[in-house]
Amino acid sequence: MKLYSRVTGTGSCLPPRRLTNADLVAQLMASGIETSDEWIVDRTGIRARHFADDGVFSSDLALEAARHAIRAAGVVVADIDLIVVATSTPDMVFPSTACILQGKLGNCGAAAFDVQAVCSGFVYALSVADALIKSGSARTALVVGVDVFSRLLDFSDRSTCVLFGDGAGAVVLQSSTTPGLLATDLHSDGQHNRILCVPGQINSGQVQGSAWLRMDGQAVFKLAIGVLDEAARNVLAKAGLSTDDVDWLLMHQANIRIMQSTARKLQIPSDKVIVTVDQHGNTSAASIPLALDMAVRGRRALPGHKLLLLAVGGGMTWGSVLLDL
Ligand code: UT7
Repeated sequence: MKLYSRVTGTGSCLPPRRLTNADLVAQLMASGIETSDEWIVDRTGIRARHFADDGVFSSDLALEAARHAIRAAGVVVADIDLIVVATSTPDMVFPSTACILQGKLGNCGAAAFDVQAVCSGFVYALSVADALIKSGSARTALVVGVDVFSRLLDFSDRSTCVLFGDGAGAVVLQSSTTPGLLATDLHSDGQHNRILCVPGQINSGQVQGSAWLRMDGQAVFKLAIGVLDEAARNVLAKAGLSTDDVDWLLMHQANIRIMQSTARKLQIPSDKVIVTVDQHGNTSAASIPLALDMAVRGRRALPGHKLLLLAVGGGMTWGSVLLDL
């Protein structure tokens, strides 16, 4: 019998500390950085973001999101035989955040590992978990996207520090005889590895290079606009479907202008585009599962709906997943 994977539960977590643009602008202006709510809203669509307090790590946010997803799926922790965490802000250099999460959940024996594809991480992680379920290697997977990018932000660089927020999103993906994940499509181009990066490494007990996030915003913007609609068309072609079949376009929440442009190119109307960037900012690997959980819990994305997930991030990486909820 042919095996497929289905999302059976979603969950998310936002740290309680919420900063509106007004809060952040006041903080930045006090240290001599010129910016405004108007600039941030016009150029990005962002109005607020959440930041984790000191001492709160990716595994903490992941744990809360995972518990919600596990409860929604109606499974127990012992059922989980695969944990994949997408993050570029792991708790430690090693072990993986997936193993730390596994320990906090009290699961023993599941395969657990991290996937590092920056803002495309969740789409990559979901595709990997789907393949392991389809091959019969796993039956019940916990797939998490989590990031605490506030730790990487240089608050003297106004072109990046206003863009990002912290959060986590999770899904339980289970083996099924009916298709849930209809198709996946992943890509990267390492020639662009410097346009969005944290160019540091640990050596002899020190960080060498820089531990701050650096981005050539215009180069990232241009690449994103160039690849996302193609990734969408690829995944639809693999599933034998068209954009007319899509109930919801769920893109990585980085910039409302990238989302609008991609939706226009795909001729998907704006009322079918899920938008959370205004309230969360760019939460990197968390952005898609967070938005998915909001859409599911808000009873917008319903069983039987087809969701087109589209991501782009550092690497540069990009990809798509077509999901029958
Ligand atoms: O998660 C991975 C994917 N990431 C993305 O998709 C991000 C992609 N890039 C972007 O979203 C946009 O490029 C940004 C939002 C980062 C920047 O928007 P932009 O329209 O490309 O602005 P820009 O970089 O061309 O800067 C325009 C002006 C500059 O001033 P001058 O040189 O024209 O005088 C910047 O210095 O805006 C200035 N600027 C700001 N002004 C006020 C940059 N940041 C700010 C700021 N407040 N926070």
